[in-house]
Amino acid sequence: MTQQNWTIDSWRNKPSKQQPTYCDAAKLKDVESRLAKLPPLVFAGEARRLKKSLARVAAGERFLFQGGDCAESFAEFNANNIRDTFRVILQIAIVLTFGGATPVVKIGRIAGQFAKPRSDENETRDGVTLPSYRGDIINGMDFTPESRKPDPERMVQVYNQSAATLNLLRAFAQGGYADLNEVHMWNLDFIERDLQAERYRDLSKRIGEALEFMAACNITAETSAEIRKTDFFTSHEALLLPYEQALTRIDSTTGDWYDVSAHMLWLGDRTRQPDGAHVEFLRGIKNPIGIKCGPSITEDEILRLIDILNPSNEPGRLTLIARMGDDKIKQYLPPLLRAVKRAGKTVVWCSDPMHGNTQMTSSGYKTRDFERILAEVRAFFSVCDGEGVWPGGIHLEMTGQEVTECTGGAAALTEKDLDDCYNTHCDPRLNASQALELAFLVADHLKSERLKQKLETSG
Ligand code: PEP
Ligand code: CO
Repeated sequence: MTQQNWTIDSWRNKPSKQQPTYCDAAKLKDVESRLAKLPPLVFAGEARRLKKSLARVAAGERFLFQGGDCAESFAEFNANNIRDTFRVILQIAIVLTFGGATPVVKIGRIAGQFAKPRSDENETRDGVTLPSYRGDIINGMDFTPESRKPDPERMVQVYNQSAATLNLLRAFAQGGYADLNEVHMWNLDFIERDLQAERYRDLSKRIGEALEFMAACNITAETSAEIRKTDFFTSHEALLLPYEQALTRIDSTTGDWYDVSAHMLWLGDRTRQPDGAHVEFLRGIKNPIGIKCGPSITEDEILRLIDILNPSNEPGRLTLIARMGDDKIKQYLPPLLRAVKRAGKTVVWCSDPMHGNTQMTSSGYKTRDFERILAEVRAFFSVCDGEGVWPGGIHLEMTGQEVTECTGGAAALTEKDLDDCYNTHCDPRLNASQALELAFLVADHLKSERLKQKLETSG
């Protein structure tokens, strides 16, 4: 059933933030109508399956891992990049599942994560002012008037790139690459002396032994599909509304509206105004929805958003993604957890330890310090613990490449090292080894949570 007074374009009557100004209205319209005729990128049934899995996260039975680039780009689109991101997500999921003894729901920030909210409309360099870069779906990163001009045709390129990316991801997830018997093979590109690689090798050896034991009991990749393949879902910020509307369709089996550009869409911290266009659009589609919750969100606002976006309190529909900053989370998160719990709302609570911990170096790099990221994750677990709420997941900006964008970690990257390999199109990402290091830490926390759960149910 469609939400009251909602239509696919009712968002157009509401104030909308962070939208580009397209000069050529006819060209925009043409692109929108061409996109609206193209096949869906995902199926509504898959989005429903993800919602069911997220409902199990909300119930404390599973853990969510969501991760990927801050922004995908046209320039870095190739099979190796997709494989490396997929592989590090699988590795993290293995660490969490085996080390944390909890099944993991995997969602990539991939196959559609192209639009970026910006703090400033314009950017000035050496006295020249141009529109800010808003992600490859809108304009180009080069600092020239031609490149910074928003071009609707870019949406078609994003659709095509997302389709090709999804095709490869589906092949990896279902076609044998994700077979648990291959866990040790996923490590090959790692530098031999990397500490995380060693820990990962050790873990994959133990998994290998477990699989041998299972095979002796006649449970193998042939007899059990769970060993051979995995579920992998896609997500991005629902920021550029003309694109999202063009990819929103009625599902023929249920008659409900789904945004078929991704399985899950999230609402950014800068576009979550309860009476704004982004909330209006998202309330009418049935996909699972994320809400980024920064330090400025109030208890009333969160409850209002929950009422608008999930009036029937359907489990799995909403994932609240806290991105407070390591210095703020202990003050701001507990009242929110309490308010949502008191109101009897079922949600997934997830931690994004990246976006509240961004800083500039003296040489002008946007970076994040690994210690602050870890501190926010630790605080998330302890705050959830204190409020009796399941710490449902983590949301990371990371890549499978060995980039130097965040400082710290076992390799002790310094501000000077950032110069070596700083490639991001927007925010600094954890590299593969930093992301794995974080996963090992989260696995330890998860394990003790699971032990507590067990003791509670047995005692
Ligand atoms: C992001 O996830 O890339 C982002 C912009 O996050 P937020 O809305 O939390 O700032
Ligand atoms: Co970001």
